[in-house]
Amino acid sequence: MKKIGVIGAMEEEVKELTSMLEGREMKTVAGLSFYEGKIEGKDIVVVECGIAKVNAAMCTQILISEFKVDAVINTGVAGALYEKLDINDIVISTDAVEYDVDASPLGDPKGTIPRMETSIFTADSRLIDAAYDAFKEEKLKFNAYKGRVVTGDQFVADNETKNALRSDFDGYCCEMEGGAIAHVAYLNNTPFVIIRAISDKADNSAEMTYDEFVKIAAINSKEMVVNMLKRI
Ligand code: ADE
Repeated sequence: MKKIGVIGAMEEEVKELTSMLEGREMKTVAGLSFYEGKIEGKDIVVVECGIAKVNAAMCTQILISEFKVDAVINTGVAGALYEKLDINDIVISTDAVEYDVDASPLGDPKGTIPRMETSIFTADSRLIDAAYDAFKEEKLKFNAYKGRVVTGDQFVADNETKNALRSDFDGYCCEMEGGAIAHVAYLNNTPFVIIRAISDKADNSAEMTYDEFVKIAAINSKEMVVNMLKRI
């Protein structure tokens, strides 16, 4: 993997990575600023894609088609679904699903995109291992789990939705971009992984804890990405 694209939805998720780039150059495409440079001797393109699935999908396609990245890493924050997860813990994606796709009146289960071979997009095992090894060796203060990232165009902040995403989709964490990034990466045969730090528990307290923890969680996610770049 020679050239790696790193996508975050929000400024706080990418600004530190951007500032770490050696020999940084910026190019604007479709209103997005793509920053190219080197981290840990690797060619990296860092970009803030904006929030939700369409922004994330468009950005991923540009990274692949125009910047010719060999792999895509999505870094950022997420709401916890898996019971053991605490604020600041990390989820490394095993796969990703767009849970808000709903053609159930036509007979497809929720989360299934009609006429596609799969709607569960599997993350790259090498990238998953690199992320998990990075976590283990750095002896960070939080825990890391491998599990499914579930994605939809909504901020989840109630128990009913949270419980449904856990039980119906086996989601470990919920967010608003990873599934779209995974979908586009799959269509382009490009390896990907999603690394998300927990900023809230996707329940009635989510709005409050999100505001409090988003910055530190974004930093945790960024640290994982930097540490894993050494390993790929
Ligand atoms: N990103 C961080 N927390 C989230 C939540 N609860 N729902 C959706 N996206 C999130």
